[in-house]
Amino acid sequence: MDPPIVTLVTGANSGLGYAIACRVILEFFDQCTSNHRLVVCLTTRSHEKARTAIANLTTFLTSRLSKDAFHRVQLDHIIIDLSSMVSVMSAATELQNRYPRIHHVFCNAAVIPFTRIDWLKAIRQFATGFVDAMTVPRYKVQNIGWLTDSHQALLRPQSPSTKKSTLSELGAAFTANVFGHYFLLHEIMQTLHSPMSSQDEPSRIIWIGSIESDPLTFNIEDVQGIKSTKPYESSKTLTDILVLGSQLPETEKYFRSYTTPPQDRAPNFQLQKTKPPVFLIAHPGIISTEIVALPWWQSRAKIIGFLFCKFLGSPWHCIDPFIGANAPVWLALSPHLEMVKGFKWGSGCNWKNGEFVLETRVDADVTSHASRLWGQMEDLRILWKSLLVPQP
Ligand SMILES: NC(=O)c1ccc[n+]([C@@H]2O[C@H](COP(=O)([O-])OP(=O)(O)OC[C@H]3O[C@@H](n4cnc5c(N)ncnc54)[C@H](OP(=O)(O)O)[C@@H]3O)[C@@H](O)[C@H]2O)c1
Repeated sequence: MDPPIVTLVTGANSGLGYAIACRVILEFFDQCTSNHRLVVCLTTRSHEKARTAIANLTTFLTSRLSKDAFHRVQLDHIIIDLSSMVSVMSAATELQNRYPRIHHVFCNAAVIPFTRIDWLKAIRQFATGFVDAMTVPRYKVQNIGWLTDSHQALLRPQSPSTKKSTLSELGAAFTANVFGHYFLLHEIMQTLHSPMSSQDEPSRIIWIGSIESDPLTFNIEDVQGIKSTKPYESSKTLTDILVLGSQLPETEKYFRSYTTPPQDRAPNFQLQKTKPPVFLIAHPGIISTEIVALPWWQSRAKIIGFLFCKFLGSPWHCIDPFIGANAPVWLALSPHLEMVKGFKWGSGCNWKNGEFVLETRVDADVTSHASRLWGQMEDLRILWKSLLVPQP
């Protein structure tokens, strides 16, 4: 029997992550002409969330898949808190022990450090454009300087020249949304390489971006967004640059070092006999989820506002997370990898045409930031590896 196709979805217990898990299974079996098996591994932050997600997903699949396809799906789970590097390390070990090869990873989990709405800004933005205010809300007030807090114990006594606080600082939104994923992928890199000789395509890493990316929120001097008033948008802009910059000649040396499996996990790995994974980026348009916790009346008003935007002709107000999952899943399963890479793709829909995938403009200056950003990400990864696995 052929080995199964393995798909990993982070933050799969709710919203877009759960919808991606549902949709990738349905579309995989729609397109599948052989008798391949599919393993979908959901990452969550607790066993209870995983159990609930798997129970709901099983019920969903029972009504949507044929008996034969249903028996060819395996639902697994793994606990990861992406803002804890200790948790990321132990999940990486577990993943590498479990799966010799992982074909798709959806880097979906994310937080918005939302604190409140700035009503004055909201009124101003709504006055200048309703759809714009419901698409790119600039009135979300976020927690500035929010750091991850679980790493102090890791820090060994420092030399007088190294400040403890500098090493322990990891911006919380940056870590959950980007760096936790980035570090995890490197640690499981061996499983993401495909054999050079076979027909096997490279593994696909689908990063979830956002239509809210905005170069004005991103500062190359503060990639972790610690000083930013918009750490969420900063992390999503960074994701655009990281992914689209991964294929540029100027980042080649960083991408090669990043995609070389770590020595301690794969001592006999032969790089020249394999193909590294490909970074891709998609966003779900605008969907209704709990990523920003609002009082019930604001949640209702938000959905009515989304429907109104759709009525006014906005292609981005998908509302239903399952529709939002269209572009990410399409990137994972598209037979035209060469055509889809290098662009940002979004899920869209309208009353007339239903669902579609749209190329999305990226405003960040990818070419001028990519090399420096990749260099900084690699430095940070190497620093954290040395903290987590002290060298003798
Ligand atoms: N909603 C939108 O309109 C929209 C628009 C553009 C892009 N997106 C993107 O879509 C993705 C999913 O967001 P969503 O709207 O579906 O929100 P959501 O329902 O809140 O899902 C976020 C998921 O990420 C998980 N998560 C958060 N912090 C984590 C951490 N430190 N470690 C591990 N998992 C963590 C959450 O787990 P818990 O349940 O444990 O908190 C949850 O499963 C995000 O990348 C977001 O930026 C959403």
